[in-house]
Amino acid sequence: MTFEQLRLDGVSRSFGAANALSGLDLAITRGEFVALLGPSGCGKSTALNCLAGLLPLTGGSIWLDDARIDGRPPEQRGFGMVFQNYALFPHMSVRANVGFGLKMRKVGRAEGRRRVDEALRLVQLTDHAAKFPAQLSGGQQQRVAIARAVVLEPPVVLMDEPLSNLDAKLRLEMRMEIRRLHQTLGLTTVYVTHDQEEALSLADRLVVLREGSVQQIGTPEEVYAQPVNSYVASFMGYRNLLDATVTGTAGSAVTVAGAGVRLTGRGAPTEGAAKVAIRPEDFVVGDGAENALDVTVEIVEYHGRELSVSARLESGTPVYFRTDKRLAPGDAVRIGVPAERVLVFEP
Ligand SMILES: Nc1ncnc2c1ncn2[C@@H]1O[C@H](COP(=O)(O)OP(=O)(O)O)[C@@H](O)[C@H]1O
Ligand SMILES: [Mg+2]
Repeated sequence: MTFEQLRLDGVSRSFGAANALSGLDLAITRGEFVALLGPSGCGKSTALNCLAGLLPLTGGSIWLDDARIDGRPPEQRGFGMVFQNYALFPHMSVRANVGFGLKMRKVGRAEGRRRVDEALRLVQLTDHAAKFPAQLSGGQQQRVAIARAVVLEPPVVLMDEPLSNLDAKLRLEMRMEIRRLHQTLGLTTVYVTHDQEEALSLADRLVVLREGSVQQIGTPEEVYAQPVNSYVASFMGYRNLLDATVTGTAGSAVTVAGAGVRLTGRGAPTEGAAKVAIRPEDFVVGDGAENALDVTVEIVEYHGRELSVSARLESGTPVYFRTDKRLAPGDAVRIGVPAERVLVFEP
C-alpha cells in the first residue's frame, strides 16, 4: 500500500472526564520519521494506539491520503507495531515469530521464507533463527519484534518506547539500527519516547506533548534551539529555569532580574513575570563573559572530558553548568553566558 500522507485531524481521546489526547493535528509525509516526545502520562501511547486502531477516537479523524481510516480495525490498517515489552510468542521460534504475520496473510511458503530470511538478515539474527525468545537477550528479542513488524512491509511502523527495557549500550546500538532500517526500507515511522536524546537523534520531526496537548512540532534543530515555551525548554535540556521579572527591553534583547541577579537574554515577554532558561553547557567559566554570575560550587560530577557542576548563587538558587576546568566543592567562581543563549519566556 502506498500513500503520500498520513494525517491526524484533531485526534482526541478521553477516558471518562479526563482528556488523554486533545485535538492532535499532524500531517506525516511518507518516508518521514516522526517522534512523539513527552513525559510519562502525556498521551504518547494513546496517540499511537489511536493510529494503530487499538483505541477508538473520541474526536477527530485519521486519513491516509483521501481515505478516512479511523473506523477501520487494526488489521485493515496494516500498520506494523513494535512495543516496549516485545510481545513475542514464547512457544514459537524466532523464524516462526517473524513469519507469523505472513502466514496469517496466506503468503506462499517460498515467498514467506524469502521475506523472513531478508528480515532476519536486516536485524542481524540469521544465526538465531531456530532459537526461542527465552534463549535470546533483551536486545535480540527487540530485534525479533522489529523484524516481525517490518517483514510485512507495512505502510507505517509504530513504535512505543521500543528501547526502554534495554541497557544503555544496547539502547545506543538499537537506536542506530532503527534509523538504519527506517532508511534502508524507506519506512514511515511514528516513534514514541520520553527520552529527548533518543527523539533528537532519530527523528526528522518531533512532536512535543504535554498533558495530551501539542506544545511544539518541529525539526530536532528547531525544537532544540528554539523551544516555544519553558516546558519544551526544560525537556530539551535547559536545566536552569529561573523565575524572574522583566526590567526592560531593547530590540529583541530582554533584561530580567531574579534570584538576586540581572540577566540579558532574548524572548517575547516585554513586562511582568518571566521564566529564564539556560543550558548547563552554554555557561563559560571565567571573567569577561556576558551575564556574569558569582556562584559557589557544591557538587562536581565527572563526565570524562567535562565536569557537570551543581552550584548556588548568593541567593541560594541552584545553577547547573558544565566545564572542562577542574573545579572542586567550595570553590567560588564567576561564570557567564552569552545573551543569545539565554531564553526568556512567559511564565
Ligand atoms: N485505559 C485507560 N483508562 C483510563 N485512563 C487511561 C487509560 N489509558 C491511558 N489513560 C490515561 O491517559 C493519559 C495518557 O496516557 P498514555 O497515553 O499511556 O501516556 P504516555 O504513553 O505518554 O505515558 C494518562 O493520564 C493515563 O493515565
Ligand atoms: Mg506510554
